[in-house]
Amino acid sequence: MLGPLLFLLAWIVVALVLFFVAISGGPRGARRRLQSPTRQAWRMTFTVFIVVFAGIGIAIPTLVIAGAHRSRESTARTFASTCGTCHTLARAGATGTVGPNLDQLKPTVMRVQNALALGGTGDGRMPAGLLQGAQAVQMAQFVASVAGKRG
Ligand code: HEC
Repeated sequence: MLGPLLFLLAWIVVALVLFFVAISGGPRGARRRLQSPTRQAWRMTFTVFIVVFAGIGIAIPTLVIAGAHRSRESTARTFASTCGTCHTLARAGATGTVGPNLDQLKPTVMRVQNALALGGTGDGRMPAGLLQGAQAVQMAQFVASVAGKRG
């Protein structure tokens, strides 16, 4: 949720910098303006821009990575509580043995989504619709990306 917003913010900053260059009559005008009597003030403004820009450049990736990490951890917890009683998946700390070991099965995203909708292959041993909608998609992506990976 936060990622796209910050991404937008970064582009607004880029736009402001470009706007400054444009109203100053291109790069040369911008340079001349920076060397005018009010140079000090302009340099100050420019420095603030650079600092804010660099700050956002560091903050965005950090927040996006942290956000992805958090959602991944919460999906791992959901797996442990919703699927872990029946399935083994090392990355989620799950060791169930009722259903197939997903670290060995290494299902694709599509296969997990089908399993969630049908209840496994539909033979009645796995409940259907344990997770739905966005939660099912998120789980499918999580399982497909971590299955077969240790710890
Ligand atoms: C009550 C036990 C149980 C729970 C809970 C359970 N499963 Fe299953 N699951 C099974 C069994 C048994 C099978 C094998 C039989 C089948 O495929 O129908 C299976 C099969 C699967 C398969 C393989 C289907 C295929 O195409 O071969 C996947 C993927 C899967 N489960 C994912 C999950 C996920 C993700 C969750 C949690 C949201 C979950 N399961 C919860 C019992 C369970």
